[in-house]
Amino acid sequence: MTKYVNAVITEEQKESSLPILEGTLGPHAVDIQNLYPRHNLLAFDPGFRSTASCKSAITFVDGDNGVLLYRGYPIEELAEHSNFEEVTYLLMHGELPKVDQYQEFIALLHRHNLLHEQVMSFYRGFRRDAHPMAVMVGVVGALSAFYHDVMDIQKQEDRMRAAIRLVAKMPMLAAASYTYSIGRPQRYPNNKFDFSSNFLQMMFGRPSEEYVVDPVLARAFDVILILHADHEQNASTSTVRLAASSGANPFACIAAGVASLWGPAHGGANEAVLKMLQEIGTVENIPKAIARAKDKNDSFRLMGFGHRVYKNFDPRSRVIQVQAKKVLEHLGIKDPLLDVALKLEEIALKDSYFIERKLYPNVDFYSGILLRAMGFPMNFFTAIFALARTAGWVSHWLELQHESHGIDRPRQLYVGSPLRHHPKKK
Ligand code: ACO
Repeated sequence: MTKYVNAVITEEQKESSLPILEGTLGPHAVDIQNLYPRHNLLAFDPGFRSTASCKSAITFVDGDNGVLLYRGYPIEELAEHSNFEEVTYLLMHGELPKVDQYQEFIALLHRHNLLHEQVMSFYRGFRRDAHPMAVMVGVVGALSAFYHDVMDIQKQEDRMRAAIRLVAKMPMLAAASYTYSIGRPQRYPNNKFDFSSNFLQMMFGRPSEEYVVDPVLARAFDVILILHADHEQNASTSTVRLAASSGANPFACIAAGVASLWGPAHGGANEAVLKMLQEIGTVENIPKAIARAKDKNDSFRLMGFGHRVYKNFDPRSRVIQVQAKKVLEHLGIKDPLLDVALKLEEIALKDSYFIERKLYPNVDFYSGILLRAMGFPMNFFTAIFALARTAGWVSHWLELQHESHGIDRPRQLYVGSPLRHHPKKK
């Protein structure tokens, strides 16, 4: 439904009606598409704090109330009642799968979960101590060389196959970035396992031994994947959309998403949280850390706290905290960093600096503790995020193909030199 608001554009002393677009949930959006053609004015919103870059029907985040919905379903319900394969189907297709649709989807994931053997040779070009995300950017992008001429993105069938290939191949791609780093031969996918168990056996299994899945760890890992599967127009998803708007190869677009995810303000935060907790070390050192986080002259931030959209609890952080406690108890691990994290959260939530700025724990605050307990090396955490987020990236890529606004091309407020002439010009 379209409503109208009267916006007064003072610079030109002109009055103009701008349409207000209403979504199903969340704030309305003022449609400013005609601002430049009609008034020669641009909207200035660095960081996109007040900009809806597109229409989307995939994920909804209500940051003030701590709500996250995938296709309308609350994240807590999906984490409790679904597995990652169902959630991926939901994100891609809009509905939870019926039994036959689920079986067909699993069969497709199984058919496409192997890597071309030549892809494996790319790994050997990397240093063994390369960061897994550096390797992932490279090998995910390299897939575009294998599926380019054979694919027509104008065809729905080809698009769907590309999306399935990405989701299905990502576990082996990610696992290989770890096994290569430690010099262990890479195991192949085994279709007797579900998605998460299959990843765990490729990550931790030895080719010479049977891999026995621990159901508690497999379930916890599946929950991690579900929680990280999508998060509307975050930096990496917007990167994928921007790259895709030019009609680029989808494997290359997802590689761009991996690159964006890597940064410490985004997917790299879970690694940064663990490093921070290790640095803090003990509960006694927490006040010092809090003081540093509040000090404007110190660049130190409380990693795992704050979010561009959530100005309340990130609902994923509560689910992950429960899983972290469950796994630690199951494995009989007494991790002092969990005590530091719990106390840090308790102190920060009572501190006026964090209260006034609405800084709450985000999904990354406890995920590092959980992943470490499961045996993942710290520098691998963001690769797991990429593995999960591929489900969201491909869903947005699929959705974008039905949009007709063409290439994304932001403008700028130019603040450089006015026109001047080359000193040699006569
Ligand atoms: N520790 C201390 N102070 C903080 C923190 C923090 N973690 N986060 C924000 N602030 C302060 C800022 O200094 C600023 O204070 P000021 O108003 O006095 O200048 C105020 O809170 C607002 O901060 P912004 O930077 O404007 O918030 P923004 O929405 O841009 O940033 C971000 C969000 C990047 C996530 C930020 O909170 C942060 O750096 N957090 C730590 C990194 C992190 O955990 N990232 C993961 C995000 S979740 C994800 O990607 C899965």
